[in-house]
Amino acid sequence: MSASDFGVSSTAEQVTEGRDLSGTTWLVTGCNSGLGHETARVLALRGAHIIGAARTQERAEKALGALGVEGTPVACELSDLVSVRAAVAALQGRRLNGIVANAGIMALPELNQSHGVEMQFLTNHVGHSALVDGLVDQLVDDGRVVILSSAAHFMAKDRGLELDNVSGETDYHPWRLYGRSKLANLVYAAELARRFRNEGSARRANAVHPGVIRTNLSRHVADEDRLFSRMPHIKSIAEGAATQCYVATHPDIDAHSGRYFEDCGVAESLPAGDAEIDALREATNAILARIG
Ligand SMILES: NC(=O)c1ccc[n+]([C@@H]2O[C@H](COP(=O)([O-])OP(=O)(O)OC[C@H]3O[C@@H](n4cnc5c(N)ncnc54)[C@H](OP(=O)(O)O)[C@@H]3O)[C@@H](O)[C@H]2O)c1
Repeated sequence: MSASDFGVSSTAEQVTEGRDLSGTTWLVTGCNSGLGHETARVLALRGAHIIGAARTQERAEKALGALGVEGTPVACELSDLVSVRAAVAALQGRRLNGIVANAGIMALPELNQSHGVEMQFLTNHVGHSALVDGLVDQLVDDGRVVILSSAAHFMAKDRGLELDNVSGETDYHPWRLYGRSKLANLVYAAELARRFRNEGSARRANAVHPGVIRTNLSRHVADEDRLFSRMPHIKSIAEGAATQCYVATHPDIDAHSGRYFEDCGVAESLPAGDAEIDALREATNAILARIG
C-alpha cells in the first residue's frame, strides 16, 4: 500500500503491514507509555530488535517485558545530560536502522527548570538532540530518524523559538512553551535532513504530528476532560502511532526528508529553514556547553 491508502484512521499495524524488519534495530524513546509503547510493539511485531529507552533502566525493562519482546532496555532521562550521555555510551557500536525520538512532556503548569533551562525545551528538544547527535553516525546508510513534533508547534507562531528565553522566565505559559519545544523538534528534524542531504546520504529525517490521543501526556493538564471535549477528533493509541511507524518504515519516505507529516501525509508547518536551523543549533550548543 502507498501513502494515498493511509489516513486519519490508519493504525500502526496497518501502515507497517507487509514490512519485514527482521535483522533491523530501532531505538524508541519513551517506550514505556502511549505512542512509544505502541511503536515499539508494532516495530517488534514486524521483526525489529527494539532498543527501548525510558527514564530508568527498570522502566525500560518493564516496558519491553510487557511487550514480550527481546529488546535492549536502556535508561535515558532526557532532562539529565549525564543520563543521555550514558545512554549514548551504552549504545556505542550498535548499528541502528532508525531512531524514533518520541518521549515528551506537555504543558507543565508552572515554570520548571533544570540548569536554568525550561523543562519542556530541555526534555523534548535538548535531551533528544544530544541523544540523536550522539548516535546519528551509527545509522545505517539508509537509516531514518523520526522526531515527534506536534500541531501544537503552531502555538509558537507569534514568538517562534524564543531563543533569548530558553530559561522560560519571560512570560511563562505552559502551552506556548510546549509549542516552542515542539517547534524545536521540527527544526531539529530539518537540521538532520539538511545534514544528510549535504553528505549525499540516503538517510532521512522527518517530523511528525501523531494526532490527538488521550495518553499520559496530558497528566499535567488540570481539566483533561474539558481539553479533550474541545478536540474535533481523538485517535486511539493504535491510530496515533501510525504516522510515526509509517514515516519510520514505509518505502514512500525514501522520497522525503525534512518534512512534517500528519495522518500519514505531508502537512504544512511553520518554517524550518536555514535561519531557524542555525539559530537553534547555536542555542542548543550553548546550553550543552554550559551544562557541561
Ligand atoms: N498524545 C497526543 O495527543 C500527542 C499529540 C501531539 C504530539 N504528541 C507527542 O507524542 C510523543 C509521545 O507522547 P504520548 O502521547 O505517547 O505521551 P505519554 O504516554 O506521556 O508518553 C511520553 C513518554 O515520554 C517519556 N518521558 C517524559 N519525560 C521524559 C524524560 N525526561 N526522559 C525520558 N523520557 C521521558 C515518558 O516516560 P514516563 O512515563 O516515565 O514519564 C513516556 O514514556 C510526545 O513527544 C508528544 O509531544 C502527542
